Amino acid sequence: MSAAPTVTLRHGTALPRLGLGTSPMNDDEAERAVATALELGYRLIDTAENYRNEVGVGRALKGAPRDELFVTSKFNKRWHSVEGARTAFEASADKLGLDYLDLLLIHWPNPDQDQYVDAWRGLIELREAGLVRAIGTSNFKPSHLQRLIDETGEAPEVNQIQLSPIWAKQDSRDFHAAHGIVTEAWSPLGKGSDLLERPDVVQLAEKHGKTPGQVVLRWEVQLDVVPIPKSANRERLAQNLDVFDFELTDEEMAKLSALDGSGSTPADSDRTGH
Ligand code: A2P
Repeated sequence: MSAAPTVTLRHGTALPRLGLGTSPMNDDEAERAVATALELGYRLIDTAENYRNEVGVGRALKGAPRDELFVTSKFNKRWHSVEGARTAFEASADKLGLDYLDLLLIHWPNPDQDQYVDAWRGLIELREAGLVRAIGTSNFKPSHLQRLIDETGEAPEVNQIQLSPIWAKQDSRDFHAAHGIVTEAWSPLGKGSDLLERPDVVQLAEKHGKTPGQVVLRWEVQLDVVPIPKSANRERLAQNLDVFDFELTDEEMAKLSALDGSGSTPADSDRTGH
């Protein structure tokens, strides 16, 4: 199977249009899943300080051609300062065994702490120093993103949010599109819900000769969202990457979009971050 196509971020870095999420894997699980994913053609690997699996991910990356990898990490709220962002970068790069990261994200805005603008200034410096190729945020709402733009003149290149047909986040996607921010989706398969058993999803899967998971990931890809499904299973890893050879019609897209709001409360609704 070949690698996913890419989308070019605002500062010129090519981001694969689908990748592997590694939460909540531990070091050993992450090492196995990442090694399998790389064999299958995955290039985008997503980890975080908070997942505590960067060492395992790094073990699997060893030996892979560096310029073919796209490695993302994220840092916690204790590093929300200019110097803190650099310390966080150094810790992640060291654990991963890399000289540079392809993408580094502020993991949560932590508005109560109110230091995410400083973290953002730190990320801008890291990009200027060539230590990270692209920078962004995770779990930022449009109001948080607007504040970054107002105070620094720079929007993130990527904002990674919880998104699937049942939590479609149109307001975020519209804001991102207006500011050249690429949307990444965590839990793109609607983990913790019955999304993959919904009749509309199952019927579309049967119609296209695909699995429910592939139909959901394809809906995201067609919305220009970059999903990062997690799987520890070789067959499902292969399936999840294999979504670039079929197309949902406008009507089919609308059918899936109509599931928005039909899930239980989004898992990120009451989270303040870590
Ligand atoms: P597994 O690791 O056994 O494949 P999300 O990315 O939405 O958080 O969902 C991840 C969960 O969905 C994991 O429990 C994973 O389990 C499962 N999963 C991953 N890919 C698929 C798929 N194509 N179909 C069904 N379940 C999947």
